[in-house]
Formats: sequence, structure tokens, C-alpha cells
Amino acid sequence: MTPEIEVFRDLDEMSHRAAERFVEAAEETVAARRPFYAALSGGSTPRTTFSLLATTDFALRFHWTSAHFFQVDERAVPPDNRESNYRMMREAMLDHAPLPPENFHRMRAESQDLESAAHDYAHEIAEVMHPLGGAFPRFDLIQLGLGTNGHTASLFPGTAALEETWRWVVPNFVSEIDMWRMTLTYPVLNAAREIIFLVADEDKADVLRRVLYPESPEDRFPAQGIAPLDGHLRWYVTEAAARLLPKRS
Ligand code: 6PG
Repeated sequence: MTPEIEVFRDLDEMSHRAAERFVEAAEETVAARRPFYAALSGGSTPRTTFSLLATTDFALRFHWTSAHFFQVDERAVPPDNRESNYRMMREAMLDHAPLPPENFHRMRAESQDLESAAHDYAHEIAEVMHPLGGAFPRFDLIQLGLGTNGHTASLFPGTAALEETWRWVVPNFVSEIDMWRMTLTYPVLNAAREIIFLVADEDKADVLRRVLYPESPEDRFPAQGIAPLDGHLRWYVTEAAARLLPKRS
């Protein structure tokens, strides 16, 4: 399957397209008379997209009151810690956008009992999204990133969460950074209607090529496990990140 890749001049142009896609996707759910459920990743790349969504141009067109934002993953730190994904989202968007506070669902990954906190978060997703009995929750839009080691969400190479087949949210210990994380799992990610990867940095060029065009058995990465069962997978990348991708005619 040829991956759907859109290449943009730079982070700014890519982020404008991503913010536009959030507006469009929310519009589609309003037209279908249902709420918009999105899940957001952390790291640095999506910050510009989140900031744009809070600017007048986008904020006036986005349906905030019928939107619910969840987190794809979180670091096991307090919400005011500089490593906190929630803090990034709050500073970039939540402090400036008219999203009803109860419509942002924070992962409480600072909890001493991460197992219970993950279970509680799955319960909160069920309470808000009401998936049909036994089905995985179906997000309208999930935004993902890509690490230089090919991880996405907090699904890192060689970690236990990669094997999860039924829980929606799990704690995940990542030995390479000696840190606990909380993350949505493959079954939930792959139940989404649409997934957008945002990849901007030049230092991602090599892993991006190997993720999208694997050439050897070594080219196996967690990001390759993202394959929506009945949904759309888009890769938004900058020219710098796309520099090693095969040229398309
Ligand atoms: C996190 C993220 C993670 C991120 C990648 C890319 O908590 O770190 O959710 O999966 O998307 O690490 O991060 P950058 O955008 O900072 O390169």
C-alpha cells in the first residue's frame, strides 16, 4: 500500500494544513450531528498546530463546544512539569481557546498507581465516547508523531505496550529513557477514522524513509504498527524530513 504522504515547505506550512484538517474533520462530525473526538500527541512538532487552532482565523471556524480532546500519551510527570505533554497543550492551545474545560481529558500520568490511572482513563473514554458493546473507541482524528527511533505515541521499540491487544490505555516503562509513560494502545489507535502523522525535523529523515519504505529486516519500527482498520492514514512531512524519500513522478 503506497502511504499517503503530503510534503510541505516547512513546519509552518505543514502546521497550517494540519490545523485546517482539524477544522474540516470537526465540520464533518457536526454535519453528521455527532461530537468530534480527537486525540493529541505530545513532543514538540504539534505545538505549532495547536497554537494555530487557538488563533482567531481557526478558532472562529472550529466547533469547540462539540469537540472532546484526549491525550494519545503522557509522561509520568506532574501536569506543570516542563516535560508534561498536557502542559505543552495547555500553553499552546487550552489557555487561549474556547474549549469547555470539561472537554479536555487529561491523562493523570503523575499518579503513583499508573495501572489504576490507565484504567480510569479508559473508563473516562468509555463514559464520553460510548463505544458499542465490546468495540474499541473510534476517534475521529488522532494526531501522532515519530521519534528518531521509530516510536509513536509512547509505543517505544522493545516495550511491553507493543504487545497489548485488548486494553485501551496502558502504563509503559521505557528503559531507554528510564521513564514510565501512559499511552493509548494499537487497537485504539487503529480503530480511528483518521490518523495524521506530523513529521518535521531533519533528523527524522532516515527513520521516516525506513518506516515508510523498509528495505531490510532491521527496518521494523513501532510506527509501522499504525494501520487504521477502517480509516485514513496521512503523513504530513516537511521537505527536510522527506529529503531521503524516493522521488515520486
Ligand atoms: C511524546 C510523544 C511522542 C512524540 C515523538 C515525536 O510524548 O513524546 O507523544 O510520541 O510524538 O517523540 O516527538 P517530537 O515531535 O518532539 O519530535
